[in-house]
Amino acid sequence: MPIVTSVEDLRILARKRVPKMFYDYADSGSWTEATYRKNESDLQAIELRQRVAVDVGSRSTEATMLGRKVAMPVALAPTGLAGMQHADGEILAARAAEEFGVPFILSIASICSMEDVAAHTKAPFWQQIYLMRDRGFIRSLMGRAHALGCPVLVLTVDLPIIGDRHKDARNGLSAPPKLTAKNILNMAMHPRWCMGMLGTRRHSLGNIVGHVNGVASMETLAEWSAKQFDPTFTWTDVQWVRDNWSGQLVIKGILDSEDALIAANMGVDAIVVSNHGGRQLDGASSTIRMLPLIADAVKSKTEIWMDSGIRSGQDVVKACALGATGTLIGRPFLYGLGAQGQAGVQRCLEIIQRELQLTMAFTGCVDISQLSEEIVMPKR
Ligand code: GLV
Repeated sequence: MPIVTSVEDLRILARKRVPKMFYDYADSGSWTEATYRKNESDLQAIELRQRVAVDVGSRSTEATMLGRKVAMPVALAPTGLAGMQHADGEILAARAAEEFGVPFILSIASICSMEDVAAHTKAPFWQQIYLMRDRGFIRSLMGRAHALGCPVLVLTVDLPIIGDRHKDARNGLSAPPKLTAKNILNMAMHPRWCMGMLGTRRHSLGNIVGHVNGVASMETLAEWSAKQFDPTFTWTDVQWVRDNWSGQLVIKGILDSEDALIAANMGVDAIVVSNHGGRQLDGASSTIRMLPLIADAVKSKTEIWMDSGIRSGQDVVKACALGATGTLIGRPFLYGLGAQGQAGVQRCLEIIQRELQLTMAFTGCVDISQLSEEIVMPKR
């Protein structure tokens, strides 16, 4: 068994074990990937204050997100095609999240359907959606989620059109994978992954296939999906979701104070400061740079969470110190999943929690609520 002590170890292992088109899908940003890299490097550049002689004998990473107790302020982000990183990926990740005590957010573009995830877990999952043109489908999807006991809807607003990612274009990314000679050869070089995929029936977009009139095959699905992102959506459509969803609503993909205020004034329950992991507007600021400005503008009108760039418990500390009360991780758990399935996601969460606890101790904090600007060195 390879020794895994960091999220980076999981990434390296996932790169070996997952066919290139799916590994690349996770580990990529749009165009030059400048924003993708900046998310990480801006977090790394923040220095923490080392404090000593504070009693840090009993520390807790527990927090609340939307009024629910969580083992740490970290949720698994909605990520498309997780079930292609590893067979049955969404079910395995949801189980790991449940065992650990953190929320799992299911992507609308998941391989395992929400019914399947609900049938294999006890903790309620949270559901992510885009505002697709087919509002009838979105309405029925919200109804399905509600009927399964999903309490939280996460509406992604930073993807009116999908960003260009060079690697996906080169690899011909699709689910299931296009069976070109190059892809078949690459899959054959990942026998563990192939065995997993041969052992499951879950190979296509489970939330969609069979739920949209006329979409039963991969060809019709590709045709339908290509037309579905809705570049015409506005805040009026966000209000439509608010009016049609009786549970809690989170808006993901806010990177500007003005947008944050609009969302907060609409009465949403949380916003996620996000640039979609640097996968949409290349050249946008990092989320950790925008977070304090947004927190300042929104004050306590809504919960503020952050994603894009979190790779460690130290990053969680920094986000919480600069105004977030929750974070989302995407790539770290996908690397865990690709590397070792459910055990890898579990390992990823353990690593992040350990780093979080240790960093709290060294900065003189025993509780997540103590993480404030006080523990961050001012910029010099
Ligand atoms: C979809 O959300 C993607 O980033 O690929």
